[in-house]
Amino acid sequence: MRIVDLHDRLEGAYLALPIHGDGGKLMLRTGTRLTRNLIRTLRSRGYIKVVVKKPLISDLEPDHPISFQTRVQTETALEEATSKLLAGKPPDLKQVLEAVDAIIAELWSNSRMSSGIVSIQSYDRNTYTHSISVCVLSISIGHCYGWPLQKLRQLGTAALLHDIGKVLIPLDLLNKPGPLTAEEYALMRTHCEKGWKLLSECLNASGYIASGALEHHERLDGSGYPRGLTGDSISEVGKITAVADVYDAMTADRPHRKAIFPDAVYAHMIQYKDVLFDGAAVDALFSKVALYPTGTFLSLWGGYIAVVTAQDPRSNLRPFVRIVGGPGIAKPIDVSLYSRPDIRINFLLNDYVPDGHRMIGGNLQDVVSDSDT
Ligand SMILES: [Fe+2]
Repeated sequence: MRIVDLHDRLEGAYLALPIHGDGGKLMLRTGTRLTRNLIRTLRSRGYIKVVVKKPLISDLEPDHPISFQTRVQTETALEEATSKLLAGKPPDLKQVLEAVDAIIAELWSNSRMSSGIVSIQSYDRNTYTHSISVCVLSISIGHCYGWPLQKLRQLGTAALLHDIGKVLIPLDLLNKPGPLTAEEYALMRTHCEKGWKLLSECLNASGYIASGALEHHERLDGSGYPRGLTGDSISEVGKITAVADVYDAMTADRPHRKAIFPDAVYAHMIQYKDVLFDGAAVDALFSKVALYPTGTFLSLWGGYIAVVTAQDPRSNLRPFVRIVGGPGIAKPIDVSLYSRPDIRINFLLNDYVPDGHRMIGGNLQDVVSDSDT
C-alpha cells in the first residue's frame, strides 16, 4: 500500500483501504478502482489523500492511532452534541466521555502509544477528524507526562471539544476557500470564547475542560488570542491543546495550501519551542508522532528512494524502510535506519521522483512508473 495525494493521475489505481464518509458510512470499498469521476467526487468532498495498492509494498500496515470503530463512535458523539447545541438543547456529555474512554483504552493497549502516532487527517477527513486528531495527540502528550487515567480523561475531553465554539460560527465562513477579511477573521476568533461559554454554561463542564476551548490559540509570548496570555498564565490544558492543534492543522491540506510534511512541521515547532509553544509539550508530541509515516516515500542521500515500511519504537526519526531504487539497487532491500546511522534522510517524497533518479530492476518498474503520481 501507499499513501498518496488524491489527484487525476491516480486514475486506474486500486484502493488498499476503504473510504468512509461522515458517520462512518462506507463510500468506497477496498479494491475499488479509481476513475476520474470518483477522484473528482472525492476531492470535491474534501478528501486529500488515499491509500492505494502497490505490488511491491502490499505488505505494509498503515499507522492507525485508533480503530475505525472508535472513530465512528467519537464522530457520532460529537455529531449528536453539535446538533443538540444547534437546536438550543443541552447535550449529554456522557457519550463524549465514553468516546474519550474508548480512545484512551485503545491508545493504552496499542504499542503506538509509544511511537508512530499519525494525524488521522493523513488518510481520512471529515467534519470531526481534526477534533479527534487533536484529542489523540493531546492524550499522547499527557501519557508521555506520565499522567494518571483520570487526568488523561479530562485532557482528552477538553481536546475533543476544543473547537466546539465553531458550531456558532456561520458555516459559509468556516468553509470559505479564500483568505478571510479582517472582520471575518475577528468573527472566526470568537470561537474560543463561544466554546468556553458553551462548555461552562450550557454543558456544565469543569473549568479545566472549558479552558481547552478558551486557550488553545494562546501563545507563550502573548501573540495568541483571545486574551493574549503569556507563559504560565496559560493553563496546562491550553498549552497542550495548542501544540496538538497546530501540529494537526499544519499537517492537513488547507484550501489555500497543501499539507506540510511532519518533518517540516517538526522543524517549525522546534524553532518556536518555548517562544510560542510550550517546550515540554512539543518534546512530548515529537517523541510520539511518526515523522515519516508508514507508506510514505523518502529520498535518501546518495540518490536512493525508499518507502517507510514500519515505525521503530526506538526512534520516530529512524523508521524501517525498503529501498526500492537508486544506484546498484537491483531488488528491494529492507533496512532499519535506526541500525544504519550512516544512511541519511534527505526529505519526504510526496508524489514525485526528482529528476535524475535512476530506478533499476524490472519489477521495480511498477513503483517507478507511477512514483511521480
Ligand atoms: Fe480553534
